Amino acid sequence: MNVVVLASGRGSNLRALAAAIDAGRCAVTIAAVVSDRPAAEALGFARDRGIATAIVELPKGADREAWNERLAETVASFGPDLVVLAGFMRIVGPALLRRFPHRILNVHPALLPAFPGKDAPAQAIAARVRISGCTVHVVDEGVDTGPIVAQAAIAVRPGDDAASLHARIQELEHRLLPAVVDWVARGHVELGPEPRFHGSFDGSKPLIVPPLES
Ligand code: GRF
Repeated sequence: MNVVVLASGRGSNLRALAAAIDAGRCAVTIAAVVSDRPAAEALGFARDRGIATAIVELPKGADREAWNERLAETVASFGPDLVVLAGFMRIVGPALLRRFPHRILNVHPALLPAFPGKDAPAQAIAARVRISGCTVHVVDEGVDTGPIVAQAAIAVRPGDDAASLHARIQELEHRLLPAVVDWVARGHVELGPEPRFHGSFDGSKPLIVPPLES
């Protein structure tokens, strides 16, 4: 299965996906990494690995719909079966959604539907929640509103700030995202308006649902 990864920043989720592929834990090929930021570290990692890259910038004041069309064209040119937003800091528009209906996944550093949008770990700290985590969901036209596929949770520690919480959430992301991508590739989960799992998982296990070791 061909995956195109969209990333704007550090690319730690991209690296986790690549590591899972190397370890035989994720049965996909990364066809390309596409970014809106030429300076994204994710692009450097991709180039070093020999993965194709493309940049689709959105200059200030530029026409958003035209950018969306260019983004959709660029992503489609790599022929992905699945598109993964791994720290892509822009809202993808109808042009991409239409081309890949229910075939775009996003990873978000909170237990949605709590704390969508920017700075989710800071939102969680401000709300004084005791449990947070990450969500992998299908992308729809809203901001972090699409159908939830899987979540992983951790306790918020006394003394945590947004940065320390985000760092621990990212460790979860690095396990959950490659696992979900692998499940999709193997047909264990069918993406759609209501993602469906084939097989069973033990819902009595706390915090990480479905269990990561499955
Ligand atoms: C992650 O925390 C992800 O949940 C959010 O952006 C961050 C990207 O991190 N959407 P990285 O670039 O993969 O390191």
